[in-house]
Amino acid sequence: MIVCQGLTKTFGSLRAVDNLNLTVYAGELFGFLGPNGAGKTTSIKMMTGLLRPSAGTALIGGYDIQSQPLRAKTVFGYIPDNPFLYEKLTGREFLNFMADLYSVTAHNRSQKISDLLRLFELEEKGNELIQGYSRGMRQKIALAGALIHQPKVIFLDEPTVGLDPKSARLMKDILRKLCNEGTTVFVSTHILEIAERMCDRFAIINRGKIIAIGTMAELREHAASDTKSLEDIFLELTGGDEDRDLIQYLG
Ligand SMILES: Nc1ncnc2c1ncn2[C@@H]1O[C@H](COP(=O)(O)OP(=O)(O)OP(=O)(O)O)[C@@H](O)[C@H]1O
Ligand SMILES: [Mg+2]
Repeated sequence: MIVCQGLTKTFGSLRAVDNLNLTVYAGELFGFLGPNGAGKTTSIKMMTGLLRPSAGTALIGGYDIQSQPLRAKTVFGYIPDNPFLYEKLTGREFLNFMADLYSVTAHNRSQKISDLLRLFELEEKGNELIQGYSRGMRQKIALAGALIHQPKVIFLDEPTVGLDPKSARLMKDILRKLCNEGTTVFVSTHILEIAERMCDRFAIINRGKIIAIGTMAELREHAASDTKSLEDIFLELTGGDEDRDLIQYLG
């Protein structure tokens, strides 16, 4: 469903994403992990057509995002790390606007919108202006908007930031449900505990390069351990353990 080949982005002398090769299959919940500045957002922006790659290609649902951008964009939904929302629309109006944007037919539209509001526990807020929404409510209405055209692939950049435990669980359950229905979910996150429980497969990116890819069992095999958590493996691979020396040094 997602195939990246040699995807590369340079900013001046910085190789923010360096020769990314990745295949994500239909119905997979794929976790894209990496420290701050590793290149996650840059990769997702290239896959979704917001940034032109310096080299390489990304196919979404079989369509090349560079040469067939409109076709590719009918296949996926995207929720950026900082979603832009129209403050002066109500939640319901926003979902209607997204439905227009993605040419969702009038048939069943209001039902779909009501279903999404209910799914995200936003029914009571549906007729209020988005400017009055809390951060978590904004995350949820943004995801609802990205689902209105029933995309085959969803990209989420840090979806659980700002969510309370109940909303984070709700988000996790919704993503799992979508995958079970055959949707491919590509999610970048720093919350490794949630990722470990939620995702089928992971890629860890560091300084623009993928340094590990696989299921939890495969990552453990790679780390020669049956018990290590995703956090342990992540810190080992990305050098986060060095910070412990600093903490000891600071006393
Ligand atoms: N428009 C830009 N111009 C110059 N450098 C950029 C630009 N966008 C990103 N970078 C650089 O590319 C690198 C990767 O950034 P990116 O935003 O992809 O990281 P990230 O993995 O999403 O990090 P975070 O976890 O903090 O969101 C960083 O060094 C960043 O400073
Ligand atoms: Mg980012």
